[in-house]
Amino acid sequence: MAGEEKIRVLIVDDIPETREQIKKLLMFEPDIDVVGTAATGREGVEEAKKTQPNIILMDINMPDMDGIQATEQISTAVPSAAVVMMSVQSEADYLRRAMLAGASDFLTKPVSGDDLYSTLRKVHERKQTMIRQLPVPAAAPGEAAGPVRRGVQSAEARLGHVIVVYSPKGGSGCTTIATNLAAGLMKEGTRVLLVDAKSQFGDVGVFLNLKSPTTLADLCSSVEDMDMELVENVLVTHDSGLRVLLAPEPDPAAITSPLKGKDVAGVISKIADGYDFIVVDTGSTVDEVTAELFDIASRVLLVCPPTLSGVRNVRALLRLFDETDYPIERTMLVINQSIKDQNKSNRVTIATELIEKNLKMQAIAEIPLEERVVLHAVNRGVPVIAITKERNRSPIKELLDMAEQVRRALLGEQADKSEEETKQQSGFGRFRRH
Ligand SMILES: Nc1ncnc2c1ncn2[C@@H]1O[C@H](COP(=O)(O)OP(=O)(O)OP(=O)(O)O)[C@@H](O)[C@H]1O
Ligand SMILES: [Mg+2]
Repeated sequence: MAGEEKIRVLIVDDIPETREQIKKLLMFEPDIDVVGTAATGREGVEEAKKTQPNIILMDINMPDMDGIQATEQISTAVPSAAVVMMSVQSEADYLRRAMLAGASDFLTKPVSGDDLYSTLRKVHERKQTMIRQLPVPAAAPGEAAGPVRRGVQSAEARLGHVIVVYSPKGGSGCTTIATNLAAGLMKEGTRVLLVDAKSQFGDVGVFLNLKSPTTLADLCSSVEDMDMELVENVLVTHDSGLRVLLAPEPDPAAITSPLKGKDVAGVISKIADGYDFIVVDTGSTVDEVTAELFDIASRVLLVCPPTLSGVRNVRALLRLFDETDYPIERTMLVINQSIKDQNKSNRVTIATELIEKNLKMQAIAEIPLEERVVLHAVNRGVPVIAITKERNRSPIKELLDMAEQVRRALLGEQADKSEEETKQQSGFGRFRRH
């Protein structure tokens, strides 16, 4: 087997005997290469940057920087590497936190050969599939693809475009569009954050198979003194490298003190300059939260299903925007769940041209209804665009085109920075002024 095809493994553990034992176990595996070892979390991060391994076997308890912190840093600095945590059974809580920090799997100590081999191969295959299938590979060696951590890495400001995905009609596909837009915007060197700002019953966690004990609600409650370390602890990382801020689970406390629009917008604005694009999924009511989000948005992506009630609701929303002097140039229309060949379906939908005429607005994308592909993606916990390599297949092609349209619109705008600044000044607070 050629050297470059081997699974490159880095071992991080403070106990020399453990490092040696694992090294020995891997020594005679023809498809595995141990490319380095490290004795502390900090060393592990440095070694990972240097050796660009496929997999890092990471101990949890270590001096100077523990395995969880190291994993968080690696998921940003070397996103092409997968982390497999090693711990003794009693550290279940640590493990949960490690998975949230971006670890892909874990092994129980003492690590047995069979467990080790099968886990390494399984994790490697999963990670490589993910890297291959996303439109753009993970960051090049040495280049960070995650958020800028102020004070840890350089404080380079990013574009910070907030794209709010909204539909006045529930079930139109906002979460589907937001998830795939975020994944589609991920390119080398581009930092993307997906935020689930649906106040109740947010679905991003379900769509991407992510869980977290900490959510947007935790950041909202400490928005005043929120630092990047806290943000990093709350964000979760999808296998694809996409950073995600999840919505709170519905609980009794949320009924009496729901998310406040100002806090949600405050949190997103504060995080924004660490990212190029922040894609925000929302609920379907115009409430305090969505109103504040419209105010900070560079673009509001309106998702319209090709149905009578869907179009009617979008038209009513556009009227509301008009009445409140909301800048119409910030809105973009996406038709979702369209059916091209009506003869092959028992559903009757409205043609895109008619919708555009009715709304007096051109759609930037028309995403076809493809139930099997979309369902398959949700069941696997990956974006639809990562489900297959066939880039020309519907609705992958249309979703990728949509992301490209959004990127171009915003980057084109960025070229004229002074105009952008003027626009932002005049736009803030505008939605609810009347
Ligand atoms: N283009 C599509 N083709 C097939 N199925 C789709 C498509 N878009 C969305 N769906 C399906 O429609 C359902 C609703 O989609 P989604 O959850 O994304 O909508 P939503 O607007 O976020 O809903 P909610 O109002 O509950 O937040 C889901 O089951 C999703 O899988
Ligand atoms: Mg949703």
